[in-house]
Amino acid sequence: MIKIAPSILSADFANLERDIRRIDTADYVHVDVMDGMFVPNITIGIPVVMCIRPTTALPLDVHLMICRPVRYVEQFCDAGADLVTVHVESDTEENIHAAIDKILAKGKRAGIVLKPATPAEAVLPFLEKVNLILVMTVEPGFGGQKFMADMMPKVSAIRALIDERNPCCELEVDGGVDPVTCKTCIAAGANVLVAGSAVYKAEDIPGRIAALRG
Ligand code: DX5
Ligand code: ZN
Repeated sequence: MIKIAPSILSADFANLERDIRRIDTADYVHVDVMDGMFVPNITIGIPVVMCIRPTTALPLDVHLMICRPVRYVEQFCDAGADLVTVHVESDTEENIHAAIDKILAKGKRAGIVLKPATPAEAVLPFLEKVNLILVMTVEPGFGGQKFMADMMPKVSAIRALIDERNPCCELEVDGGVDPVTCKTCIAAGANVLVAGSAVYKAEDIPGRIAALRG
């Protein structure tokens, strides 16, 4: 089953509760956290996660685009995140392990994220212990960018690793996913699709979420 994770980065922040209700046929709420250091943009943080938690029954998929996420993962878990993902490029291997361990110790699901330039092999140190791997299909930082189809061999390579060594692990893609590119991602082996502008710019949001399932 293909899961859809609409990104609230494309929502109206003055009407976040309304815009989260509009995606209630989706599978996750994708929350993009940016610190202005790891990526050249600043978005939302822990207080916003706390406020949106009671507005939805959907799991919160919190994508941390911040330097040294080990400093903050426990606070995001306590704020109501169900799944917290950290970039492998955001700290040393040892500290990424520590961040994953802290998320799991909170009883939450943990994932790692790869920027476009990061090769598939970067998942290997973490493959057996994560619940999700996220492959970026744009440079992280902004919504509405063009889908990078050249990330598909990496998605397929990670799908093969997951099937062999951690078959319960989910494989997510993020960036430029629309009703056309979703099919490419699904064919390459992704089972969770993040979509910001493709969902929130649609006239019929539930219809668009259904269309993104491929
Ligand atoms: C980009 C974010 C994405 C973004 C996707 O750094 O991680 O989640 O919101 O937006 P679209 O679907 O518009 O490319
Ligand atoms: Zn994201």
